[in-house]
Amino acid sequence: MYPLWTFLHGFVLLAGTGALAVAALLQRRRVERSRAAASVALLVVIGALVAVPVELGVLLALASYGPDFALEKIPLGVPLALVPLVVAVAVPSLSRAAVGQDGPRAAGVLAVRVALVAQLLAWHLFLVPPTSRAAVLGTGLAYAAVLIVSVPLLRPRGPRPAPSTGRGRAARIAGGGLVAVAAAGLAVTVADRANRVPAEAHAGHAGLAPGEVDVATLTGPSGTPDRAVTLTAERDGGRWTFDGTVPGPQLRFRVGELVQVTLVNRDVPAGVTLHWHGLDVPNAEDGVAGVTQDAVEPGSRYVYRFRPDQVGTFWYHSHQASSEQVDRGLFGVVVIEPRQPVAGTDIAVVDHRRVTGTLRRDVEPGTPVRLRIVNATSSIGRYSLAGVPYRLVAVDGTDLHGSTEVDDKRVALAAGGRYDLAFRMPDGPVTLRGAAQQVELRRPGDDAPPPRDHSRGTVDLLHYGTPAPAPFGAGSPVDRDLRLVIDQRLAFGGHGFGYQWSMNGQVWPDGPVFTVRAGELVRMTIVNRSTANHPMHLHGHHALVVARDGAAATGSPWWTDTLEVGPGQTYVLLLGADNPGVWMDHCHNLNHARAGFVLHLTYAGVGTPFQVGPGSGNDPE
Ligand code: C2O
Ligand code: CU
Repeated sequence: MYPLWTFLHGFVLLAGTGALAVAALLQRRRVERSRAAASVALLVVIGALVAVPVELGVLLALASYGPDFALEKIPLGVPLALVPLVVAVAVPSLSRAAVGQDGPRAAGVLAVRVALVAQLLAWHLFLVPPTSRAAVLGTGLAYAAVLIVSVPLLRPRGPRPAPSTGRGRAARIAGGGLVAVAAAGLAVTVADRANRVPAEAHAGHAGLAPGEVDVATLTGPSGTPDRAVTLTAERDGGRWTFDGTVPGPQLRFRVGELVQVTLVNRDVPAGVTLHWHGLDVPNAEDGVAGVTQDAVEPGSRYVYRFRPDQVGTFWYHSHQASSEQVDRGLFGVVVIEPRQPVAGTDIAVVDHRRVTGTLRRDVEPGTPVRLRIVNATSSIGRYSLAGVPYRLVAVDGTDLHGSTEVDDKRVALAAGGRYDLAFRMPDGPVTLRGAAQQVELRRPGDDAPPPRDHSRGTVDLLHYGTPAPAPFGAGSPVDRDLRLVIDQRLAFGGHGFGYQWSMNGQVWPDGPVFTVRAGELVRMTIVNRSTANHPMHLHGHHALVVARDGAAATGSPWWTDTLEVGPGQTYVLLLGADNPGVWMDHCHNLNHARAGFVLHLTYAGVGTPFQVGPGSGNDPE
């Protein structure tokens, strides 16, 4: 429903304002006694009058998603609508003079015009609650814009001007248009600047400041590795692979062992890296080109070392030009196994357009099965398991507590996220559907038809499982509050002029910088006011979900590293700042990341010497 309200909001404003501009032009002609123009103008004005109540209704609907969703629209738009309305009604002669026509209709026209133009400005300028300076500026600019729209009506009424020639009129319209465009451009720029958080975004990229800890020193442990693996990135036509396969080799390590992975780039021209998605490794091992290392050029190698302390399902992928490289196949699964081996069948499936067909396994009835799902696509994955009730036992590499049996529901998994499903193999076949690759398990020799999927509805993690102790919770005193408000807006950004993802009102290469200190408990609120899903992925940390849309989490502790935030949703998370470094925080819809939906979480006193941008050879997204 939320995207619909947002579209309606935009539509009412654009249509209403456009209608008023048309009415203004036609009313001007009315002075020249064109009856047809006058009646069209009247109709358009009535339409615009209807737009205001509709717009107020839409604002109320938006506000029902939470105060954040109408916050800046109401304080700016409502006074601008009410003040002229009061003036117009209280001092009819004034409004008559202002619009040069008769009575109550004139009052209405003026009020409607101010309201709509103000809302239109509020919509585009104040994507985050305005600072007071910006609010004053915005109000002024809104009135200025109204004046521009009203110019055709503000001419003195005196004797009729000499009929203008076609050419003169064309020149006037062109000139007026130019002035309007210039004024609007100026208004947008000035108010936008006034509302900015000081631009320290990507501060780490300005180079390492004196006295700062260099991220390159935040490495994993030294010593003889317990496990050493080499992964070779190479091209195979349009498909790019690790060790010749897509997905790359499945890596299985035991918790606590010292792991060493050598990345070799045979011939991937732009360079590659290895990012350990979901593993909270030390910063220098995080594999982000331009942030924690330089991209590994063709013919070069790079060594990653870490000691995994989380048991669960993770994945690795290149974090150099990742939207292209993950799409071409540079990714694979990492499983961290517990110290004691677990009996049963353990299968990992990666959802990705290059991993297709059917994964078939013979499983004896009664065998415990763990099915690990990794969503390596850029959109939400909806998976259904047919043939057996299952439990959702782990999310993003962390076990849930008190998982209950699910019989008839699907799971919805964020792009980049992981779910583990567990069940005991029944007599009949079991299928997992929804990924590009289907999974089919059956008793050896069984040729029964695959079970039908009759799932309806989706498991809601906010209320799934039972509570268990966690190091902090909704009531814990926090040291720092961070807020991310996601919008779409027209802006000039690093990728040209267009409709862009905005983070607290700013677009790439600007954006808020989240700075924390080691040891702090951080509350992070994410508000999605855009019309798209955003799977938000913070590197190096797991966060605990405490609330969604004002409702507290009541199920198992829900730890996540990749959280789907839908349009109109607000999530509140808690995270312990316990892993110093400069960390990526971005949308894992890699096309969105590519378009600039990228932030950093930086620890005070830590900086990176690595560079992004033209000439650096590094391009994390
Ligand atoms: Cu899986 Cu920064 O990404
Ligand atoms: Cu996104």
